[in-house]
Amino acid sequence: MVIEVKNATKKIKGALILDRVDLTFESGVIYGLQGPNGSGKTMLMRLVSGLIRPTEGKVLIDGKELGRDFDFPPSMGLFIENPAFLPGYTGKRNLELLAELQGRVGNEEICKAIQDVGLDPEDRRKYRKYSLGMKQRLGIAAAIMEKPELLLLDEPTNALDEGGIEEICALIRRERDRGALVIVSCHDRELLENLADEIYTVAEGRVERRAQ
Ligand SMILES: Nc1ncnc2c1ncn2[C@@H]1O[C@H](COP(=O)(O)OP(=O)(O)OP(=O)(O)O)[C@@H](O)[C@H]1O
Ligand SMILES: [Mg+2]
Repeated sequence: MVIEVKNATKKIKGALILDRVDLTFESGVIYGLQGPNGSGKTMLMRLVSGLIRPTEGKVLIDGKELGRDFDFPPSMGLFIENPAFLPGYTGKRNLELLAELQGRVGNEEICKAIQDVGLDPEDRRKYRKYSLGMKQRLGIAAAIMEKPELLLLDEPTNALDEGGIEEICALIRRERDRGALVIVSCHDRELLENLADEIYTVAEGRVERRAQ
């Protein structure tokens, strides 16, 4: 898969949020987004995911235009900010409900995804009783369970303990190795530089590939 962001600008109420972004992402690579708070990392992920439309420019996925040829990338796993899970259900039940929407995966893949993020598929606790890190892990499990071609992870390691960070980094590498296109943001510079194959710096809506 090839994603081309072509001269994309996003303005919200006159404010310039993304400024003439031009870049190409390809399968089998982990792209790291680096930049200060408010620089536009999450907005860039929203743009690529189809959650927002550019004011000018376009996003092409394998040559087809997002927002014209399809509303969302056809095979995408998304973890952005607080995922909306149902508090009264277990983690597994939440994933089952999401999986039913697409009808692509069943019990086996769901259990595997839960284990991959270090949770227990047999855990009977309701989502509302999950700790912050457990919620975060479940969100990542939801993003990967359907083995998407495009994986967008916005600060996936935020609330995680040391072991969790290692698990998630290993998981991200496995996703890349099976051929996914991964875009990940993270405020830990060292971690991101270790994990990502390519780094893009984001500053005041401008996105630039950093020389290796
Ligand atoms: N819903 C919104 N309406 C208007 N402006 C917004 C909205 N959401 C974000 N912004 C603005 O867009 C800019 C980029 O925000 P974004 O969330 O992409 O930053 P970020 O790089 O992800 O920051 P952080 O590191 O804090 O997550 C900021 O100036 C922010 O104020
Ligand atoms: Mg953000």
